[in-house]
Amino acid sequence: MTLRGSVERLAARLRSNTTGAVERGLKAVPFVRERIDREEDKLIAQLERSVKPYRGRTDTYARLPHGGRDHEEVLHEMAELAALEESRWRDGLVSGAVYHGDAEHIDFLNRVYALHSQVNPLHADLWPSASKYEAEIVAMTAAMLGGEGRDVCGTVTSGGTESILLAMKAYRDRARIERRIRRPEIVAPATAHVAFDKAAQCFAMRMVRVPVDPDFRADVAATAEAITPNTAVVVGSAPTFPHGVIDPIERLSEVARRRGVGFHTDACLGGFVLPWARDLGYDVPGFDFHLPGVTSMSADTHKYGYASRGTSVVLYRGAELRRWQYFTATEWPGGLYFSPTLAGSRPGALSAACWAAMVVTGVEGYREATRRILETGAEIRRGVEQIPELRVLGDPLWIVAFASDRVDVYRVMDRMSALGWNLNGLQKPPAVHLCVTLRHTQPDVAERFLSDLRDAVAYVQAHPGEKGTMAPVYGLAARIPLRGFVGDLLKKYIDLLYRV
Ligand SMILES: Cc1ncc(COP(=O)(O)O)c(C=O)c1O
Repeated sequence: MTLRGSVERLAARLRSNTTGAVERGLKAVPFVRERIDREEDKLIAQLERSVKPYRGRTDTYARLPHGGRDHEEVLHEMAELAALEESRWRDGLVSGAVYHGDAEHIDFLNRVYALHSQVNPLHADLWPSASKYEAEIVAMTAAMLGGEGRDVCGTVTSGGTESILLAMKAYRDRARIERRIRRPEIVAPATAHVAFDKAAQCFAMRMVRVPVDPDFRADVAATAEAITPNTAVVVGSAPTFPHGVIDPIERLSEVARRRGVGFHTDACLGGFVLPWARDLGYDVPGFDFHLPGVTSMSADTHKYGYASRGTSVVLYRGAELRRWQYFTATEWPGGLYFSPTLAGSRPGALSAACWAAMVVTGVEGYREATRRILETGAEIRRGVEQIPELRVLGDPLWIVAFASDRVDVYRVMDRMSALGWNLNGLQKPPAVHLCVTLRHTQPDVAERFLSDLRDAVAYVQAHPGEKGTMAPVYGLAARIPLRGFVGDLLKKYIDLLYRV
């Protein structure tokens, strides 16, 4: 019997009860556990080679070398690995991941980093420049997102996930203290980033996911129905990660405002694109602090802000809401302690590089970058729409998701990988997306993507028996009815990443 057979048979018997307890019970049955482990281990072994390509090619350290190695030799070895990994993202074969990537820009950011590599913003007295840079990053981002004159403030964080975690923590703590809600709830469309689930898990909140409309945008009526007396915050995305569509933020935030709850716009992807898209004449619906119901936002400087990896901004309407994010301790023998974000010590060099990226790019730079990205996004969307076997999901601007009723779209993704591309696999429904960055606006990249995509579809149709690499993983994940098993598979994958 296959894994699918064994799991589905047992699941069918227990159809009425697929809780965590049942899953744990199923896993405790040695027969089921063994079969699942075998199947999962087979998949992990298949993935191992691609995840650990340097085994046997470079020295491997499971413990410290006895004597320190020669600096130049180490640099040389690391430069070799970096060079091996560079061409794919540099040439624009990767979805998202590297948002600017021009050699000159990277070199500039690295020089700024080198100047500040010892800076820790936790010690504002030692490095007041760090506090200047961070305050200005927040102010510039707020001004760009309708915050001017509206008492909008925020903090610099390590990335989109941390911005979201912190905003959710702020709403939780406020709801607990001011409204005496024991388990505050987050109401979010099914498509909102999974960082909101992480926040719910970390901060013991309840996540209420609301199905989206057929156009993949949030369903306003269903969201309104999902709000309860325990709701602390409602969420919308501008745009969503999976399908690149902008939720109806104006209506969603108005529903939240009328019900007296917070509203968070996740503009991690769109924060540094949509304001300039509007300037360029694109029809961009309201999504930021211009809307009275929007009480917080996340916007990633390390994506379309063109900073080095490792910074984002979380913004709040009003300093009072921001304070719920802070951590302070007054009784610790280590002294009076405070930190604005999750980390203690932080890399001030990343904030310095972020500030530098913003001031060298400026309004004109962001607007021009946005023009190039949106034009390339439109070209890619048109091209995908012309492939009869594929259909574009929703109404995207620059993150183009496509599905198929005629071919296995994950096998198309695998074939694209064989041709050098690195795309994102989506699920519910099965789909794949390309997140367009400045890398794709280079000459001939969009044409090559579309030509390879046409070839990949034709290849999959001509080779129905082939399995692929990720297709079996997504296929298996889609078939296993008990999601805890899929979670275990992902944990095994993380274990693999930390194997030397
Ligand atoms: C819409 C959206 N929100 C949040 C995040 C999380 O950002 P990060 O990966 O920087 O933590 C992402 C990442 O792609 C995103 O697309």
